[in-house]
Amino acid sequence: MRQMMVAGNWKMHGSVAFTQEMIALLQSKVAIKENVTLLVCPPSVFLAQAVQAAAGSEVRIGAQNLSDVAAPGAYTGEVAGFMLSDIGCQYVIVGHSERRALYGETNEIVATKTKMAIDAGLTPIVCVGETLTERENGHAESIIAAQLDAVSACIGVDGWRSVVLAYEPVWAIGTGKTATPEQAQAIHAFIRAHLAKLDVTVAASISILYGGSVKPDNAAAIFSQSDVDGGLIGGAALNGDDFARIYAAAAAL
Ligand code: PGA
Repeated sequence: MRQMMVAGNWKMHGSVAFTQEMIALLQSKVAIKENVTLLVCPPSVFLAQAVQAAAGSEVRIGAQNLSDVAAPGAYTGEVAGFMLSDIGCQYVIVGHSERRALYGETNEIVATKTKMAIDAGLTPIVCVGETLTERENGHAESIIAAQLDAVSACIGVDGWRSVVLAYEPVWAIGTGKTATPEQAQAIHAFIRAHLAKLDVTVAASISILYGGSVKPDNAAAIFSQSDVDGGLIGGAALNGDDFARIYAAAAAL
């Protein structure tokens, strides 16, 4: 069963006070529906606090990154998947385009991290997407196929059953330029068709979020596309009212 999700990626924003206030606001403002997961992904230092603040409510907490190493060891600055599970995190964003572009995460590293997340009992939200140049050169689909294939090679067909995907065109992230609903739908359908070559059931049941400048006024049009299962929200997730309105757009479908 495809589950809808509205996930907020705070990136490197927030504070102790912000975390407390935002989770309290979401708990009071949002009527959470069972078939639409509400997820908040704060920076790692606020995760334990966020899990505690969200306890007893339907607000779910995810991390923005995890180590590509599973076992404890001498890896200064790294946070392993088992540590995220240990504090009550349920999800983790993997392979966000900022991680790929700014921190050198290759398709193979993203694939390894996806496996680490699954092995630690977390649901990875694996991000794929093309840059503007890649799109203009007609390479969007081949780039995304390569990103998906690297993950397939690492987790196998069955691994996909534990994954949420996010299509995030790099040119739409933080730019105010959203993919049109039709552009989003076309790539989401491509992703599903690509996965169907591995397994038809996996392709039909995986949730695929759209991300890139989703706002309260464009969320409904994007989320109502047949292969779009909600959104991964950056900037608008830092405003509780906007994020609540985006969630409401998904819940109304
Ligand atoms: P944005 O970010 O909504 O600010 O464009 C989306 C993301 O990077 O996940």
